[in-house]
Amino acid sequence: MRPSPDPADKTIAVTSDPCGTVAPAVLAWYDRHRRDLPWRSPPGRRADPYHVWLSEVMLQQTTVATVAGYFGRFLDRWPTVADLAAADRDDVLREWAGLGYYARARNLHACAVMVVDRHGGRFPETAEILRTLPGIGDYTAAAIAAIAFGEPVGVMDGNIERVTARLFAVTDPLPGAKPTLKRLVGSFTPSRRPGDFAQAMMDIGATICTPRRPRCILCPLSDGCVGRARGIAEDLPAKAPKAEKPTRRAVAFWITDPAGRVLIRQRPDKGLLGGMMEIPSSDWRPQAMPAVDRVCSQAPVAARFRALTGLVRHTFTHFHLELTVAVGRASAPTPVADGRWIAVDRLGDEALPTLMRKVVRHALEHPAS
Ligand code: ADE
Repeated sequence: MRPSPDPADKTIAVTSDPCGTVAPAVLAWYDRHRRDLPWRSPPGRRADPYHVWLSEVMLQQTTVATVAGYFGRFLDRWPTVADLAAADRDDVLREWAGLGYYARARNLHACAVMVVDRHGGRFPETAEILRTLPGIGDYTAAAIAAIAFGEPVGVMDGNIERVTARLFAVTDPLPGAKPTLKRLVGSFTPSRRPGDFAQAMMDIGATICTPRRPRCILCPLSDGCVGRARGIAEDLPAKAPKAEKPTRRAVAFWITDPAGRVLIRQRPDKGLLGGMMEIPSSDWRPQAMPAVDRVCSQAPVAARFRALTGLVRHTFTHFHLELTVAVGRASAPTPVADGRWIAVDRLGDEALPTLMRKVVRHALEHPAS
């Protein structure tokens, strides 16, 4: 059995890369073994900042394999940042549908507008200024600055965090160990090809230094890897126990008019699923599932509601959500603030987030109880 990291052992066996061997080994590996990804430029060449920014924002949501499709569709439709800035925001949200966390899509559009309005259509070239743009945090700013502009800033995502924790046997648990890991990454990021270096570290993390069963035999850093030498690589990075996610519950109102159209509504810009279309619902609360009768006053249109069998389940970053779907027939297509009555077969054209697609599917597939 592998020995577990001793939690009392908080030493970092090596505090930097004094011989400067990490970057050359990593870059040489990248030249031969990097992943061929659509937003990348050939080794040694800077990539298009628009492509880097777009892909980085998408990669915060989902996997490399899924991003490839979205990235291609966005570029076909909006080939430059100016095209994206000029786009209708609802079209951007629609194209984003399925990636989740729609605040990112709204920020994406806001960022494109700001790049055009304040920066003449060119992305700023330093992490410090990039960070002032909507939706660009420390990680994304560093990634764009390094990959598109060659700024030698340390870039740290989950993969790089893992590689670094193992390489230097940092046994402090995450998230507390982040500043230490960030400092280490900054200390061995080269001034030449910092973007290739960051992407190489990401690739090593994704394909070799994997969370389970790292393939150390293939790793360009295995000789100097302290975690490996100590036999604790696979147990790193240690993680502080996560708090359980609470479950919120509510009733979604599937309201049809006499013509069979269904009521959808735009959510407020601020907050979860901001600006997206929704099937209206009662408040999402950490409570037992409310009886439909008790919350039907929260429906945007009065109707007699009947609960469908079963539940719609969805998990957000910080909580689980369970929805009962209640169907009701309105006597007329009453106007509703931010609402629209829409034919069921046109729902597919709407920017409905995944949760709401689940509600639609449930309403169409489940009989009333
Ligand atoms: N994950 C986030 N950014 C990435 C990139 N540029 N290449 C590969 N994986 C990534």
